[in-house]
Amino acid sequence: MAAILLPVIYLILLLLLTKSQAIPKVEQWMSATATYTKETDGSISTEGACGYGDLHKASYGKYSAGLSTMLFNKGSTCGACFELRCVNHILWCLQGSPSVILTATDFCPPNYGLSSDYGGWCNFPKEHFEMSEAAFAEIAEKRADIVPVQYRRVKCDRRGGIRFSLSGSAHFFQVLISNVGLDGEVVAVKVKGSKTGWIPMARNWGQNWHCNINLTGQPLSFEVTASTGKTVSSYSVAPPNWQFGGTYEGKQFK
Ligand SMILES: *[C@@H]1O[C@H](CO)[C@@H](O)[C@H](O)[C@H]1NC(C)=O
Repeated sequence: MAAILLPVIYLILLLLLTKSQAIPKVEQWMSATATYTKETDGSISTEGACGYGDLHKASYGKYSAGLSTMLFNKGSTCGACFELRCVNHILWCLQGSPSVILTATDFCPPNYGLSSDYGGWCNFPKEHFEMSEAAFAEIAEKRADIVPVQYRRVKCDRRGGIRFSLSGSAHFFQVLISNVGLDGEVVAVKVKGSKTGWIPMARNWGQNWHCNINLTGQPLSFEVTASTGKTVSSYSVAPPNWQFGGTYEGKQFK
């Protein structure tokens, strides 16, 4: 009996396994709205609620966006990439609905003094993108103040490795994680000195992670886990004489 059943069970398991791997995760287009911030240099230049600061200016530039509460997800979405296109507005949307790819770098705070249909675009549970003027101009007429858009999560196409920017003190070790490829969304981080094991870090704000361990004088390794569950370990990213304020580059998600 078992001699017949075993190959059958094996075949069923094999089918189940290959089937679950073969289903591509196609992200659906979702509806939202978008506005833009008027700025002289065409990019959102403030540090942003994700903490990227000047880094985001350098790497994400005009293709960065502020997200409403609903999309920001308490900072977890920081670094994720979204494809956006203007739809269903014959006057404001550019012909052919061209799309842009944006990185989430900021939080668009709610304004409960305003109706969510009039100015309070970022109020819960609205899905809204605050864009740079330059990126907005690639999908819609700048004369428009608010446009209907469709968006979907896309893979982030990054050049180079994941960047680790260190800050803090001997008692408070903080790392800002940027330039994350693939889904861009970091959900867990661990750090390891040459004299320690892997230490789990906690999200402080945005993509700033911290722990209360003195790692001075030790080479640092980092393990980054993305929302897809993939993990990438970068060994000895920072040399033993690393400095607070320094940025070090590790491996990238593939
Ligand atoms: C942190 O570690 C370094 C190297 O071991 C040591 O020189 C320094 O005194 C330590 N700092 C504190 C505040 O413990």
